[in-house]
Amino acid sequence: MANTVLVGAQWGDEGKGKIIDFLTEEVDIVVRSQGGNNAGHTVITGDKKYVLHLIPSGILRPGKTCVIGNGVVLDPVSLVEEIEGLRAAKIKVGKNLLISDCAHLVLPYHRLLDQARETAKGKQKIGTTKRGIGPTYADKAFRVGLRMGDLMQPELFSQKLAARIKENNAVLKAYGAKPISFKQVNEAYLAAGEKLRPFVTNTVVFLHHALKQEKEMLFEGAQGTFLDIDHGTYPYVTSSNTTAGGACTGSGVPPHRIDRVLGVMKAYTTRVGEGPFPTEDRGLGEMLHGMGREFGATTGRARRCGWFDAVATRFAGMVNGIDDIAITNLDGLDTVETIRVCVGYQKGRKKIEVPPSDFRQLADCEPVYIEMPGWQAPTTEARSFDTLPANAQAYALKIAGLTGGRLAIVSVGAHRDQTILL
Ligand code: GDP
Ligand code: IMO
Ligand code: MG
Repeated sequence: MANTVLVGAQWGDEGKGKIIDFLTEEVDIVVRSQGGNNAGHTVITGDKKYVLHLIPSGILRPGKTCVIGNGVVLDPVSLVEEIEGLRAAKIKVGKNLLISDCAHLVLPYHRLLDQARETAKGKQKIGTTKRGIGPTYADKAFRVGLRMGDLMQPELFSQKLAARIKENNAVLKAYGAKPISFKQVNEAYLAAGEKLRPFVTNTVVFLHHALKQEKEMLFEGAQGTFLDIDHGTYPYVTSSNTTAGGACTGSGVPPHRIDRVLGVMKAYTTRVGEGPFPTEDRGLGEMLHGMGREFGATTGRARRCGWFDAVATRFAGMVNGIDDIAITNLDGLDTVETIRVCVGYQKGRKKIEVPPSDFRQLADCEPVYIEMPGWQAPTTEARSFDTLPANAQAYALKIAGLTGGRLAIVSVGAHRDQTILL
């Protein structure tokens, strides 16, 4: 399958986990290169449902190696819990998991600061997952972060932690939050560190060795294009590069070894948290929520829903270099009579072809829609493109064409077999 970077083309939760699980059959290695446990990737195999947060979704397939790269931020305590949860479900986690010694650690003060800053922002809050992602990446950029490699050296770790807790307790105090106990955190993190020790290594060296051996890799993007710290709807974004380039910086695999970029997008649009969302549509949201769909995999929050936004996905196509497209949740539109697709924005009298970089300007954009007839028939049993209703085929081809990429996969349900390969 060659080395593929898989990215979300919208605001996250595009169904990346499902598509990664499907594609993993053909690859040797699955790599996470950014984000942390703000991600929630749902995979359904048989009658079992897994939600993966930090561990690459490839872990569910025997014989595949999973790598948590240097660009990921991880909370060792929750990572141990995730590993133990998988083991309890009889999933093997051993030599098939590698963790970069350069991955930065999420510490309890990061989580508390995330919460305190959100509360302090009031109405202007970002709506983060409160997992401490922003403060951890901020510390990384500030060059005061603690890394997995530090945790592997207990004395050094404790020393650094003591200094960091001292400083962060002063900051927490300014927010009126409770201080953190060094002793408790130190003990919990060192204990988790010992459990993680067998997995920790220089993953860059491992990946380059694998490249020499012509092993095939799949880079599992987390979040989505418009949550990218540079290209998203700043400041209503996450704190990493969720776009294709992040796969290289976050893993140490050079750009010329990437063969293909696969963009995953829903047949409509969803977003969790605050920030502009031009095609948001309450009626569509009520319909999808009524079907029990579109509740967050990490926080359980109801996702905001709207029509497919081709202005956004066209930009995603550009910034990621999307070659191939996977459309998920086509079945979500099975009962809709007339489907709207946003093909441009209108701002006053001005027609706009690309999403403005300034979130206020984006919020002022009115979507320009075309309408397409729905198919009003179930698609969930279709196993080939030509057995989909004609209107469903036309819709999928239309939104892929507007995005600019080859339609490669259509997903009509959460299960592995509900996947159509073109
Ligand atoms: P991710 O973060 O991109 O991996 O996506 P999430 O797992 O957070 O959210 C996607 C949701 O859609 C999950 O509940 C999936 O099980 C579900 N899903 C994925 N593809 C399809 C599909 O084609 N049809 C249906 N009905 N559900 C899907
Ligand atoms: P997956 O990988 C959807 C959103 C949050 C918030 C913003 C910042 O499952 O697609 P953060 O906690 O990262 O500082 O929150 O980003 N967000 C996601 N939305 N899917 C995700 O991951 C997300 N990870 C973060 O809701 O708006
Ligand atoms: Mg998700």
